[in-house]
Amino acid sequence: MNIRSALSIGNKILIQNDIISHKLDSELLMSKVINKNREFIILNLDKKINEKNFHKYNQLINERSQGKPIAYIFGKKYFWRNEFLVNEKVLIPRPDTEILVEEIIKITKNKEKLNVLEIGVGSGCLLLSLLIEKKYFKGTGIDISKNCVRLSRINSQNLNLEKRVKFFISDVDNFNLGKYDLIISNPPYIKKLDLKYLDKDVKNFEPMLALNGGIDGLSAIRRVIKKSGKLIKKNGLLILEISFNQKNEVKKILKKNGFYINKTLKDFAKNDRCIVSTKI
Ligand SMILES: C[S@@+](CC[C@H](N)C(=O)[O-])C[C@H]1O[C@@H](n2cnc3c(N)ncnc32)[C@H](O)[C@@H]1O
Repeated sequence: MNIRSALSIGNKILIQNDIISHKLDSELLMSKVINKNREFIILNLDKKINEKNFHKYNQLINERSQGKPIAYIFGKKYFWRNEFLVNEKVLIPRPDTEILVEEIIKITKNKEKLNVLEIGVGSGCLLLSLLIEKKYFKGTGIDISKNCVRLSRINSQNLNLEKRVKFFISDVDNFNLGKYDLIISNPPYIKKLDLKYLDKDVKNFEPMLALNGGIDGLSAIRRVIKKSGKLIKKNGLLILEISFNQKNEVKKILKKNGFYINKTLKDFAKNDRCIVSTKI
């Protein structure tokens, strides 16, 4: 069997299972199996693959057919400027979250040393990307999930950031350590009843703990804002990622907890997805 025929079989199975990115995914999975990059595959379609590799390829095609995201199959995902290890216990880093990194870098341009807290750190992608950009910032990441904290710690070691960051397994409600200049969070914000409408890749594979925002989608956001009001320094910044339809509600909660709204930011699809606020 050559690479071309194997790809054609894999591609067909992915199409039958409604995988939109079938062509790309069939090539990526082949690159994983034979441990070469995509360019090699495209330039070597007539190269033979052995039976063991074809069997392995079929297994991965089957996993992808069932909706398992490519990031979980590879165990890693690129975010901002680096690769982060991921597994099915942590949310896959999203390009939309990079908007927060970009904005934070912009608004902290003249700040050298800030003490940063991330609530719901997940894989660590957000906090660690920021620490890489801002050499004198110090970070604390908390998450209710011990798997997230474990993985964030490994990602921090892989990026040589372990001396500048601390992680704690903690529910946001129980965390009372330190005072922060900047608090960031991408909390779970999907309404419980809407979870069933998510793509099968998301709802069947990504952790509900990272997605479920309770009955009105705002339950975690409320807790994050309330706790931030206590942990943040005066004039400190709170930057939140929100769902496309939560801007007005979240603004109200922020104001009620003593925050001034600086601005909201839109994602690539022009939806309001991030709120920047200051503790007054
Ligand atoms: C949407 S994910 C964000 C992960 C990561 N920050 C990112 O942007 O990719 C939300 C995270 O909040 C964590 N979380 C959920 N409820 C929490 C709580 N009550 N206290 C602390 N963390 C919580 C979840 O485990 C999950 O890792």
